[in-house]
Amino acid sequence: MRISRRAEAIQESPIRKLAPLAAAARARGVRIYNLNIGQPDVATPPEFLRAVCAFSDPVLAYGPSDGLPELKAAMAEYFGRYEIPLRGEEILITNGGSEAILFAFNVVADDGEEIIIPEPFYTNYNGYAEMANLKIVPVRTHAEEGFHLPPDEVLEAAVTPRTRAVLICSPNNPTGTVLTWEELERLAAFAARHDLFLIADEVYKEFTYDGRRHRSVLELAGLWDRVIVVDSVSKRFSACGARIGAVISRNREVMAACLKFGQARLCPPTLEQLGAIAAYRLPESYFDGVRAEYEHRRDVLYEALTADPGILLRKPRGAFYMIVKLAGVADADHFTRWLLSDFELGGETVMLAPANGFYATPGAGADEVRIAYVLDADKLRRAAEILLAALARYQGERSTITYGA
Ligand SMILES: Cc1ncc(COP(=O)(O)O)c(C=O)c1O
Repeated sequence: MRISRRAEAIQESPIRKLAPLAAAARARGVRIYNLNIGQPDVATPPEFLRAVCAFSDPVLAYGPSDGLPELKAAMAEYFGRYEIPLRGEEILITNGGSEAILFAFNVVADDGEEIIIPEPFYTNYNGYAEMANLKIVPVRTHAEEGFHLPPDEVLEAAVTPRTRAVLICSPNNPTGTVLTWEELERLAAFAARHDLFLIADEVYKEFTYDGRRHRSVLELAGLWDRVIVVDSVSKRFSACGARIGAVISRNREVMAACLKFGQARLCPPTLEQLGAIAAYRLPESYFDGVRAEYEHRRDVLYEALTADPGILLRKPRGAFYMIVKLAGVADADHFTRWLLSDFELGGETVMLAPANGFYATPGAGADEVRIAYVLDADKLRRAAEILLAALARYQGERSTITYGA
């Protein structure tokens, strides 16, 4: 039997593909620091879990396709704290932010149409683009510039008659970059100029550091009909397994279309929505603690890594990822495999994601890795020590190659 071209084309996850090598290393007794995947170690709020356990209806029935009204109300109240007024009908609850991306892609563009995305980008966008039969047009951002947006000319050059949307992710996975308000305004003007949707993946909204507040595209004036936000409780409440997200838009046509996709998959999970309601009712102070923890981890890792002149890294301002450029590593794919199969320091090694999988441009990111700082500060210090020792051994000659300041 022949399987579809789409099935053949959909990419294997670059984050998970090293799993067999990690399993083999563990079998040899090597301890691995997992910095390759965005699974936080922060405890899910007990209020979330208690609300799930308190469910006592005799039947676990289908719920509404757009989600429980109580959850939408709790979310609207949460956005209200950021002075972003939202009505229930502007929120549709999805099976994770993942489904929100899929719905958004399917709603904004037809077969073969294009979405511009700054690269490196969250690699799963590729899978959703494949499912929706869209083409991702990357615009390159660079480690040297902290992965901020390129100038307007570069964005303009990516536009074709088939372009339907531009997608941004801020705070960003995989770079940790937080776009400035000026960048958002520039994007708003760009979207308006070319009559494009502006899709914003804001699932890391809570995680901004150095006293900076996240600004949402929902705050952009005059853009209400173009903006679609992808949201999720996965990272916000350290509840990745709950599979609760949302698509948010003030464009009624977009929401009506999303609802039809929602009806096709019936409904999001009921129990986890109950947990999410309890989580959204937590006071603002809940986020202060989690944010401070991630900021501390960012600082620990940033300081440890930038002590090595062979590492190029601009301080990331949000999320819990960083992309690190490594002098003397021509093929990070090989390096990350080698870390698992050929290297150990005192019986330990680190697992990283090669960054090439986060780029759509062939060959881009070959000397970069993505690190997720989802372990506590002591473990991160040790992981950084192992990584630097590994780098030194991997390329003896790299001591002569530096990126400078
Ligand atoms: C940028 C970004 N968007 C969306 C998602 C998907 O999140 P969810 O677990 O809500 O499907 C992730 C998950 O890692 C992510 O990093």
